[in-house]
Amino acid sequence: MIIDTQKIENILLGIRQPDAYAVDDILVRAFSRSGLSLEDAAALLSVEDPNIIERMLKKAGEVKEKVFGKRIVLFAPLYLSNYCTNNCLYCGFRKDNKNAVRKTLAIDEIVQEAKILEAKGFKRILLVCGEDPKVSGIEYIIEAVCAIYRNTGIRIIHVNAPPMDVADLKRVKESGVGVYQVFQETYHRATYDLMHPSGKKRDYDYRISVMDRAMEAGFEDVGIGSLLGLYDYKFDVLATIAHSGHLFERFGAHAHTISVPRLRPADGSPVKTAPFPVSDMEFKKVVAVYRLAVPSAGIVVSTREGARLRDEVIHIGASQISAGSKTEPGGYTNEVRGERLEARGKPAEQFLTDDHRGLEEMIASIAKNGYLPSLCTTCYRVGRTGADFTQKTLSGDMEKFCQANAILTLQEYLLDYAQNGAKELGETAIKRGIEAIREPNLKKEVLKKLDEIRQGKRDVYF
Ligand code: 5AD
Repeated sequence: MIIDTQKIENILLGIRQPDAYAVDDILVRAFSRSGLSLEDAAALLSVEDPNIIERMLKKAGEVKEKVFGKRIVLFAPLYLSNYCTNNCLYCGFRKDNKNAVRKTLAIDEIVQEAKILEAKGFKRILLVCGEDPKVSGIEYIIEAVCAIYRNTGIRIIHVNAPPMDVADLKRVKESGVGVYQVFQETYHRATYDLMHPSGKKRDYDYRISVMDRAMEAGFEDVGIGSLLGLYDYKFDVLATIAHSGHLFERFGAHAHTISVPRLRPADGSPVKTAPFPVSDMEFKKVVAVYRLAVPSAGIVVSTREGARLRDEVIHIGASQISAGSKTEPGGYTNEVRGERLEARGKPAEQFLTDDHRGLEEMIASIAKNGYLPSLCTTCYRVGRTGADFTQKTLSGDMEKFCQANAILTLQEYLLDYAQNGAKELGETAIKRGIEAIREPNLKKEVLKKLDEIRQGKRDVYF
């Protein structure tokens, strides 16, 4: 059994709202980066007093800084195909969405999309595709990964693709993919069955076990998540934490990332509003609890959320955010070309995004908020992955790499891509970042590498 859902139900049944003292007690323990028991996580999720919630959020922000420093990592999704044989009630790609314009990008179109993202300054992308083995099977995904590495300066590719068996996962890993990501959507079996009426995705057990297979196949870094809004968020958040705990027990590595997707409107999907709505305040609690419960994980908040909320979550534990995302195949090319493609019928989006700020605007905003925008891709490329990553983050050893590499990649960005909005704010963030480095030797090394970058050297890292 991967997670004990009965145990989670029992914890939720027994939970009483903790008072301020009990919460402080949990927060003191969480500050040591030791994570949270499911009982403690449930207690924090049940807090409703706004003053106590504020304390939780603040503590989560502090834990994030202890683990990863001030840096916030930026990435963009790249949708390959919106053909799908599944019928997820909430998704724009669902098979029965007959009005959807379908598109599978050809390999040269994928490279074109990646080049557009590269020209904006992205170094890290996440490939996403619907589940249709005839058009976007394993060969296609591997070809896409290889073509992007071969033809662009994108430095790391992560993949969100349907669950596979170990042999296929091995091949995906060998093509150079960093993180393999699959969301369980909901860990509540009855809701899962209801939301996924047909297609291969109906198989709850094949999906929940995919991360075990991925790790067996050599993926040291995997990404998990629950789609908030489908079922009681407290249940799904605890289950997600338990899933990460299972991976840690079995493989010595927690989930590398925990994403926090919340249900959004999607054209042509029958679920118009969330069956279990999650408020902004609850969303923030979830981000904070993930951070406190699994301190080593990258907590990812996508453009499904609006600008104001995204500016807040970077203070309360989120560590990775996307920017300028398009959720339809060909979206970036379409944007560059404008109306001509639009007239031929725009391919269906998976869901509507809410934060439409582009990379430069996001970088400016992160810097303005006192944080350090990062385009770093180093860990995956030097093997700081899996159990080693978990161990280094939990012991406090990762922060110095994150801080230094954020400074270096931000400097590259400012020199090569920034046009106006981010230049001054970015330089200030770099100055602040250098001041925050505690080890004198490291500071010296960072200054040296910064000089190399200013003289034209690229892809410099620790
Ligand atoms: N709103 C938000 N997220 C969605 N996803 C699918 N449809 C929606 C929607 N309407 C998420 C699912 C999927 C991921 C790639 O996108 O969680 O796993």
